[in-house]
Amino acid sequence: MFDIKTLTAPILLAPMAGGFNTPALAAAVANAGGVGSFGFAYTSAEAIAQTLNTTAGLTSGALNANFFVFPKVSSPPAERVDDAIAALDALTRALDVAVDLTTDPPSVPYVPDLALQLEPIWQHRPSLITFHFGLPEPWILDKAKGLGMSVGVTATCLAEAQAIAAAGADFVIAQGWEAGGHRGQFASTEIDTQLPVLALVSSLTQTLPIPVVAAGGLMTGTDIANALAVGASAVQLGTAFLLCDETGIAAAHRLFLEQEKQRQTVYTTAFSGRPARGLRNRFIDAMSGQPILPFPLQNTLTGALRRWASQVGDMEYQSVWAGTEVSAIRSMPAATLVQTLLSELSLELRRADSP
Ligand SMILES: Cc1cc2nc3c(=O)[nH]c(=O)nc-3n(C[C@H](O)[C@H](O)[C@H](O)COP(=O)(O)O)c2cc1C
Repeated sequence: MFDIKTLTAPILLAPMAGGFNTPALAAAVANAGGVGSFGFAYTSAEAIAQTLNTTAGLTSGALNANFFVFPKVSSPPAERVDDAIAALDALTRALDVAVDLTTDPPSVPYVPDLALQLEPIWQHRPSLITFHFGLPEPWILDKAKGLGMSVGVTATCLAEAQAIAAAGADFVIAQGWEAGGHRGQFASTEIDTQLPVLALVSSLTQTLPIPVVAAGGLMTGTDIANALAVGASAVQLGTAFLLCDETGIAAAHRLFLEQEKQRQTVYTTAFSGRPARGLRNRFIDAMSGQPILPFPLQNTLTGALRRWASQVGDMEYQSVWAGTEVSAIRSMPAATLVQTLLSELSLELRRADSP
């Protein structure tokens, strides 16, 4: 079975749903000795198979397929849906855009069929499979482990991490408060502890019997050294890879990140119905205090607006997920970024070793 402790480069490219993780990007990280990931949360089984086929021709290194464990959603009352649509409608009318942004109401079953999405995974057997927003059903965990895959699940606090270890997962991804994208919290009865990554990793590594991967705001080799120093076995970086040459990112999105990287990042539920961290923009501000549907219904509802924003290249109305340290983002080929991170890391380790 694959063991993340044996990686030549203790770096996982974060899975990033939304097309960022191209085969070329994942392969570059895997070929550099790290893990190349795919965020397959919303991807069809056919597209997953195609992506893994293409990637197989580019690398024999370690790959990770990532999925969401979507919550069971019951249909909200009709007036709640109407209120959420009205809020978006008012916003788009004020924008004076020529498309009807509310033609795409969320409809049952609301979420993709995970069992179907997993079919190509059982055939391709990437080294790792990871889950965000909760524990997969026991049969999924058993099947993945039976096929020799290493299973990881995101935790944002000790209680979640202990549940993950007790369920038999092979490692935990400790997601600190700094992390870009959706917060993976799933112990819904718990108040969010909002722990920074180093504090979270340190509390987990002292208690857990399984390896911990640190995620959130890690941009440099020094950051990686700090995470390893508190016991992490590896790190998972998302924002750091967003401007790599191989990243699947629209030109306007790339430009916005380059030019606006000094902007504040904030958590918002406005795009999807779940807290996610990204660059603060006009949409987030305009939706403050407005009615919002539960995840992932709000994500479906805002789909048309986000597609329009992408078409016209207006990133003020698109989700620009990024971690707190986004201002340290670097543009370069992914292999160069991994090499740079490793050089910085070894420099840091030598410095720590010298008297
Ligand atoms: C654009 C973007 C999309 C993301 N999508 C996913 C995802 O599909 N699945 C997942 O487990 N995590 C996702 N994340 C969260 C990452 O796994 C990780 O927690 C985060 O990138 C770490 O923080 P950093 O961005 O500061 O490196 C995403 C992050 C970003 C920035």
